[in-house]
Amino acid sequence: MSKTEFLESIEEELLKNIDSRVKLILETGEYLIRGGGKRVRPLLTMFSCGMCGGEPNQALKLGVALEYIHAASLLHDDVVDGAEKRRGKESANLLFGNGVAVLTGDYMYAKALHIFSTYGTMQMIRIVSRAVMDMAEGQVLELSRVGEIISEEEYFRIIDGKTSALFAACVAVGGLAGGCTDERLLYEIGLSLGRAFQLIDDLLDYVGDGKKLGKPVGNDIREGKATYPLISVLDKIDVGYAKEVLGKAKVSDEEVRRLRDMVLEAGGDYETKRRAQEEVYRVKTLLSGFSPGEYRSRIEEMADFIISRSV
Ligand code: IPE
Ligand code: IPE
Ligand code: MG
Ligand code: MG
Ligand code: MG
Repeated sequence: MSKTEFLESIEEELLKNIDSRVKLILETGEYLIRGGGKRVRPLLTMFSCGMCGGEPNQALKLGVALEYIHAASLLHDDVVDGAEKRRGKESANLLFGNGVAVLTGDYMYAKALHIFSTYGTMQMIRIVSRAVMDMAEGQVLELSRVGEIISEEEYFRIIDGKTSALFAACVAVGGLAGGCTDERLLYEIGLSLGRAFQLIDDLLDYVGDGKKLGKPVGNDIREGKATYPLISVLDKIDVGYAKEVLGKAKVSDEEVRRLRDMVLEAGGDYETKRRAQEEVYRVKTLLSGFSPGEYRSRIEEMADFIISRSV
C-alpha cells in the first residue's frame, strides 16, 4: 500500500468516528480534523504493527484513536497557549470559544479510550491512559515554568510528557497489535521519535515558515517559553536579556526578533538539529532489533522526515 492509500484510509476512519449527538461537538471536532495535519501518529501505529508482523490495517482504528488523542491535546494546547491559528485556519478556541474547545477535547479523549475498550486490549488501555496522564503532566510542568530559563533536564521532562509519551504509545500499541511482546523496546523507539519531533517543532518556531506550518512562528518566545534552541546556547548569549524578554507579560515583535537572532547567531538552530539527530540515531539502533522489511524501512523514513521536515 502506498503512503497516500494509508492516508486515505486514515482520513475516512477519522471522520467516521466523530459521532456526537451534540451538534457543536461534531462541528468543532470536524473543523479540526478537516483542517488537515500530517497524521504522523496513526501512520506510525500502523507501520509499527506491520514491522512486528501484523497487517497494518489491524491497527487502523487504534491509530485513529491515537490521532483523536492528539487532536484533543491540540484543542487544549491552543487554549492554554492562547493560540489563534492551527492548521492554517483560525484555532477552535478562537472560533468556538475556550469552553467548547476544552469540552470537545474532553469528548475526544474519552472517545479514544472508548475505541480502545472495544478494539484494544487491557495492556493497550494501560499504555494509552498513562500517556494521556503524562501529556497533561508535561503541559502543566511547562506552564509552571513560563517566563523562566529551564535546564536541559527539565526541558526533556516537559517534552517527554507533552509529546514523546504519545509517540511512544503509538509505537507500543501498533507493535503489540502486530504481535510483538517487547513493550519496553517499542516504547523507547517512540519516545526518541517523539523527542526528535518536538525538538524540530521547537526549532521551526525559530526558523520555520508560519504559512507552511499553519501556525505562527516566534510564539514560544512570545509566550515566555525557553525551548531547546535557546537553552542549548545559554553560555553564548546575553542571558540577562533572554530572561528579561521571557519574563515579560507582553513581548514586542522587535524583542522576539532580537532574541531569536541572538539564539541563531549562537548556533541554537544547529545544536537543536544535532540533538534531534542523536534521538534519530537511537531510534535506528533500536529498530535494528527488528528484522529488516518494508515497515521497518517506513519507520526509518519517518524518522528522517521528522528531522528534515519544514511542516
Ligand atoms: C503539533 O503536532 C503539536 C506537537 C506535538 C508539536 P503535529 O505537528 O503533529 O500537528 P499536525 O497534526 O500535523 O497538525
Ligand atoms: C506541543 O507543544 C503540545 C502538545 C503536545 C499538544 P506546542 O505548544 O509547541 O505545540 P504547537 O507548536 O502549538 O503545535
Ligand atoms: Mg502550542
Ligand atoms: Mg503548548
Ligand atoms: Mg510548538
